[in-house]
Amino acid sequence: MPIYNKFASVYDTMNADRHSVQMVDYCKKIFKKFKIKPKTGLDLCCGTGTAISKLSELGIRMSGLDQSAQMLAVAAKKLKGKNVTLYQKELPGFRLLDKNDSKKKVTFDLVTSFYDSLNYMLTESKLKQAFISTAKHLNHGGYFIFDMNTPTALKTIWDEQTYAGKKDDMAWIWENEYNPSKKQAICKATFFKKKGNLWERFEEEHHEQGYANTTIKKLLRSSGFALDGFYECRTFDNPTRESYRVCAVARKR
Ligand SMILES: C[S@@+](CC[C@H](N)C(=O)[O-])C[C@H]1O[C@@H](n2cnc3c(N)ncnc32)[C@H](O)[C@@H]1O
Repeated sequence: MPIYNKFASVYDTMNADRHSVQMVDYCKKIFKKFKIKPKTGLDLCCGTGTAISKLSELGIRMSGLDQSAQMLAVAAKKLKGKNVTLYQKELPGFRLLDKNDSKKKVTFDLVTSFYDSLNYMLTESKLKQAFISTAKHLNHGGYFIFDMNTPTALKTIWDEQTYAGKKDDMAWIWENEYNPSKKQAICKATFFKKKGNLWERFEEEHHEQGYANTTIKKLLRSSGFALDGFYECRTFDNPTRESYRVCAVARKR
């Protein structure tokens, strides 16, 4: 079942992109702390392009990548006139080529990925391949900044929990489960969207994999990164067993 297909049309209405706004504010603090001054950037799994928009406002020439044509279409509309390049590609093994020279790989000073996007890599080998692909697209000394849900979050916030919400023209129900032996969560999402006097119903099933902090760090180091920071997300504190979200600040060696 494809994901982020019809969901794309309601993603921003649900304020699902607010996390990426908060992450760009956090990135500003990270840039200051580590004296990072990126000129070019790529947002992996960029979704509807909100983070790209905010990072562009900092003077970074941004590109974005996502597997979903529908999410990218929303992003393209939002980013019109901002000189942004969008790629429809699927992690983990992406390869981005220069649009003017098809033999040349594009590289960036910064790669970001926000809001659990890397939890969609359901095996260690896929996560590692995504890290390797990212490293190949970073300039030497370039930074990879991303957040991930922890197994604690998937167990506590997702397991057997149902969430629902509504706006004037739409409503949604998320039914979640967690498999502790696999450290994998499933979210069965049902959406209702008003169309004239009728309501359209559509469904998507999302799977997220939780990784131990030690595993994320090990995979980053074996993919060509030095780890300058690994935090409880949106702070500069060490993550604890109770942390729901971690943020890595990884530098290409
Ligand atoms: C939770 S959304 C996050 C979007 C955006 N980063 C944000 O913060 O709002 C996850 C995004 O990851 C994308 N995605 C999931 N798996 C992917 C894959 N294998 N390759 C590329 N994009 C993927 C989805 O299409 C979706 O846009």
